[in-house]
Amino acid sequence: MITFNDCLITLKSLFRMNQHRIDKCRVLFELAQQANGIIVELGTFRGMSAIALDWGSNHTVYTIDNWDNIGWAKEVYNIYDREMAEVNLKSNTSDVHIINGEISEVAKVWDKSDKISLLFWDTGVENSLIEHWSLWSKHIKKGGLFLVHDTEDYRLGWNDLKSMMTDKWPAEEYPPLHGLRRL
Ligand SMILES: C[S@@+](CC[C@H](N)C(=O)[O-])C[C@H]1O[C@@H](n2cnc3c(N)ncnc32)[C@H](O)[C@@H]1O
Repeated sequence: MITFNDCLITLKSLFRMNQHRIDKCRVLFELAQQANGIIVELGTFRGMSAIALDWGSNHTVYTIDNWDNIGWAKEVYNIYDREMAEVNLKSNTSDVHIINGEISEVAKVWDKSDKISLLFWDTGVENSLIEHWSLWSKHIKKGGLFLVHDTEDYRLGWNDLKSMMTDKWPAEEYPPLHGLRRL
């Protein structure tokens, strides 16, 4: 059986893995182990978290990015990151599909017959969370999880989303991530 430590060896060979990244990937690996259907990641960057999701899961992982954004800390995501993602994921995953597109536009034409069991939001871009939620939540299956990263930064809208949704989608803590699980 593949363990997170096996996965971490590969992650360490590709990325600088500080404790925060290790904790993030461990949570993703463990939640992917529990997923009972397809997994979708919003925000690929260079593929680190997609590797953790793939190694934890027996299901297909779709990871979406257009590599043309500026994050809340003014970091630039560009074609160089896309090339890194393509190499990293091709060599180190078994069932990851990269979708090159803008997250809202991809949601509008999403046509997979299986609903999503785990949706991981990790765009790092201000003010996009609620819009992405409104477009993607209908594609999540009953019992599925919407998982959000960087929730400690108020600019990403987690507190607004949580206060809007907790009556219907209970919030759960997976330090350093947060999630809403569908009833
Ligand atoms: C923080 S990085 C993702 C990190 C990655 N999940 C990991 O842990 O390795 C955010 C990524 O989201 C992408 N992104 C942000 N907004 C987007 C949008 N509206 N459509 C497509 N990609 C987007 C950026 O291009 C960037 O590569």
